[in-house]
Amino acid sequence: MSEASILGIETSCDETAAAVVRSGERLLSNVVSSQIATHQPYGGVVPELASREHIRAIVPVVRQALAEAGESYDSVDAIAVTQGPGLAGALLVGISYAKALAYALNKPLITVNHLEGHIHAVLLEEKQRGDFHVQFPVLALVVSGGHTHLFLAREQEQGWQYKNIGRTRDDAAGEAYDKVAKLLGLGYPGGPVIDTLAKHGNPRAVKFGLTQIKHPNRGTAKAEQTAYDFSFSGIKTAVLRYVQLEDMSAAIKRRREALAGIAKPTLQDWLAHCDQKTLDLVASFQRTVVEDLVSKTLTAARECDARTLFVTGGVAANSALRQAFEDEGAKEGLPVYFPSRRLSTDNAAMIAAAAYPKFLAGDFAPAEFSAEASLAL
Ligand code: KG4
Ligand code: ZN
Repeated sequence: MSEASILGIETSCDETAAAVVRSGERLLSNVVSSQIATHQPYGGVVPELASREHIRAIVPVVRQALAEAGESYDSVDAIAVTQGPGLAGALLVGISYAKALAYALNKPLITVNHLEGHIHAVLLEEKQRGDFHVQFPVLALVVSGGHTHLFLAREQEQGWQYKNIGRTRDDAAGEAYDKVAKLLGLGYPGGPVIDTLAKHGNPRAVKFGLTQIKHPNRGTAKAEQTAYDFSFSGIKTAVLRYVQLEDMSAAIKRRREALAGIAKPTLQDWLAHCDQKTLDLVASFQRTVVEDLVSKTLTAARECDARTLFVTGGVAANSALRQAFEDEGAKEGLPVYFPSRRLSTDNAAMIAAAAYPKFLAGDFAPAEFSAEASLAL
């Protein structure tokens, strides 16, 4: 099998990332420039600002990734870039830069689906750890700010073949974390802060109904309907109701103003501005989301006879989610794999790793391809 160093570039959302991965299994460098500070005042990603930040960061981020890998523009064998899904303007920055680089260097250019990238983050790290033989079919839960998707993956001659068997009908799980954090005046992004604060609250204090989807989506073609769908907009509304019923708005306003004045709030800052009721609420919200993700995913795994489970994407960094999947997976004798936390959230190492089977297959991008904001896997 031919060896290859692939330079990966990822600009689909709010991280400008570049990395070099050797033959899909050795991480040589992984540089991620986060835009959190830019978007924080708005409580979410502002697409136009994201594009501008990518333009500012892309050249130094790629240079740093090459330098840390001990590689150069000339020494890499191929360039890989995220084609979608993501913000069209943000994707275009990475794609334009990758196209120019590939053209100038006369190197092959490979396009990667961001979701396949998240799945390959798991594979990359397991291969790097040593002898890893995947048992198929693999069920992959990609759970991030934009997606809550279940894929059943099988091995094909070149690469993997995916079947989407479940997805969110409305908000993604990460989006629910971000919206609930915003609603409670906890800042952006919501996942990490809720993950941390939930440890200080009672997860059984507030009872939220689990989201049950009994009916097919109205207006959705039968072919597009999937059996294991999720829904997270209901819990966001339930949190809002609770806030209104319990008269928490004034305290939230005070917290929002206090935290806005702190550049990088620490756990102590957050705790100083959260009463027990708020901590109990975030812990209960998290328990409900985690239980829903775990129970639906394990039902799918059972019914599809999955031999291996991958859990990946930004929300896979969540400590309660990891623990629950580990515990429940062990009970069912199902091996569960996650990426390390730094490869759970967006990065370019996963893009470079996912590009390797395409490199071997000679599956290179045509010159005229463009960004695909809703690219399906
Ligand atoms: O995969 P990712 O970096 O970007 C997308 O492709 O969307 O995921 C970002 C999402 C955000 O919604 C963020 O709040 C969430 O992942 N997230 C977490 C944690 N860390 C990041 N959610 C729960 N717990 C965490 N520790
Ligand atoms: Zn992502």
